Amino acid sequence: MEIENNASILMVVFILFISLFCTCFIFYKTKVHCRCKICHAYVTSSWSFEFDNLCDWYTHLLQNSPTKTIHIHVLHNTITSNHQNVEYMLKTRFENYPKGKAFSAILGDFLGRGIFNVDGDSWRFQRKMACLELGKMSMKAHAFEVVKYEIDHRLTPLLSSCTRKEHQVLDFQDVFRRFSFDVICKFSFGYDPKCLHESFPMSELAIAFDLASQLSAQRAMTTSPLVWKIKRLLNVGSERRLQESINMVNKFANEVIRQRKKLGSCCNHEDLLSRFMAKTKDSIYLRDIVISFLLAGRDTVASSLTGLFWVLAQQPKVVDAIRAEAMMVTQHEAFTSFEQFHELHYLHAVVYEGMRLFPPIQFNSKFCLQDDTLPDGTFVRKGTRVTYHSYAMGRMETIWGSDCLAFKPERWLKDGVFYQENPFKYPVFQAGYRTCLGKEMALVEIKSVILSFLLRFDIEIAYPSLTPRFSPGLTATYAGGLPLRVRERRGKI
Ligand code: HEM
Repeated sequence: MEIENNASILMVVFILFISLFCTCFIFYKTKVHCRCKICHAYVTSSWSFEFDNLCDWYTHLLQNSPTKTIHIHVLHNTITSNHQNVEYMLKTRFENYPKGKAFSAILGDFLGRGIFNVDGDSWRFQRKMACLELGKMSMKAHAFEVVKYEIDHRLTPLLSSCTRKEHQVLDFQDVFRRFSFDVICKFSFGYDPKCLHESFPMSELAIAFDLASQLSAQRAMTTSPLVWKIKRLLNVGSERRLQESINMVNKFANEVIRQRKKLGSCCNHEDLLSRFMAKTKDSIYLRDIVISFLLAGRDTVASSLTGLFWVLAQQPKVVDAIRAEAMMVTQHEAFTSFEQFHELHYLHAVVYEGMRLFPPIQFNSKFCLQDDTLPDGTFVRKGTRVTYHSYAMGRMETIWGSDCLAFKPERWLKDGVFYQENPFKYPVFQAGYRTCLGKEMALVEIKSVILSFLLRFDIEIAYPSLTPRFSPGLTATYAGGLPLRVRERRGKI
């Protein structure tokens, strides 16, 4: 009995010792003791007394920094909104700013060796393969067909039925998330989760996918990776839920791959998975590649549509101009091919302007491999996280002029023709060697939704005093969604 008691006491002492050791280690490693004004505001969240969102506080700090660069010591994070620094990281010294091991560790359980999560040869191989496939005309036509089907058979009927119910308020963020999940699953896997079906079903895959990306993002917000690593080791709390949701996503992906392998080459599938299967037989690798595409193409599109509709619901003149341009290009007929979109310069400018103010990926981090000095003179020590902040960059007077906060599509037009700004001043799709591979598809998807919507419906924001508040996550998500009222435009197609 006494031996048992002693063993219990020893065990408790041991656990206390380990906890104390870990706490001290985390304290030491993360410099949570830094008492500078900025770090203090970050650790105590006192910034939130003055700002709605963390990104607004960072924007304020960056606007007031002479170099447009700041350093958050407790996060070992240098944050910049200086476009020369962005070009330096993403192009000039690309090899010195990889995603790095810390980032791979955060997303590794979820994304494995998928393109989003790797550097070096593995990244080069996947990028080359994906570029070849996504560049093909047949792939672009396939993407357009998938988007068109989802709009004609799901989105438009849903909105029409909504207009028949008086005072009905619809959460457009939810609608766009369902829409883009259906589209990217069909495009990537050839699988239709039917999330936007009239009955608004809850897709178990979508729920597990959301949870996995949310909880993975939370890992990045802890002041030390040791916190989530210990939780993962003990399989407790958020780490346990993360593992469960990852298992669910993997189970689903493995099943689709198994079914597709069984069918062999007998059926001519157009989806991305079938095309990649011709290049590699490694099932886990295939799964990782496709899950990365789901992540890349789902929330980004939904987020940009939500931000754009938030703005459009309050800009009737812009809506009128979009309609007028569409009528001129199509001569009052329906859009039948994606080539027609190239003629819609004003609409293109609206989409770019919307994402300037509300970029779906608000910031992006790399890790510095060797000590370096950025073009603005900021010294960066080896191992530091370096982040460019697209949200803040869209609000910099130094880049966009004194009207930087105004929504002005005209700033993208020269004599009525869309004019592309320096991509390092507008890294919404990233820039340099790792530029987004789905940009064209995303733009066709976004423009198709805006057009089909505005030509047929009027929209009105349900609660005009609402201001955007973002929930933490890998992509900008609007807390509380986007509640809008929809009305059919009488006599219009
Ligand atoms: C408005 C929509 C979109 C935005 C704003 C966007 C933005 C971005 C950004 C910022 C990156 C860099 C991410 C990083 O390196 O951490 C990226 C990469 C990527 N995006 Fe997109 N994206 C969008 C839609 C899409 C779609 C629809 C697809 C797929 C069909 C896609 C596929 C990819 C891929 C594969 C990469 C990785 C490229 C690489 O690492 O070489 N994206 N995107």
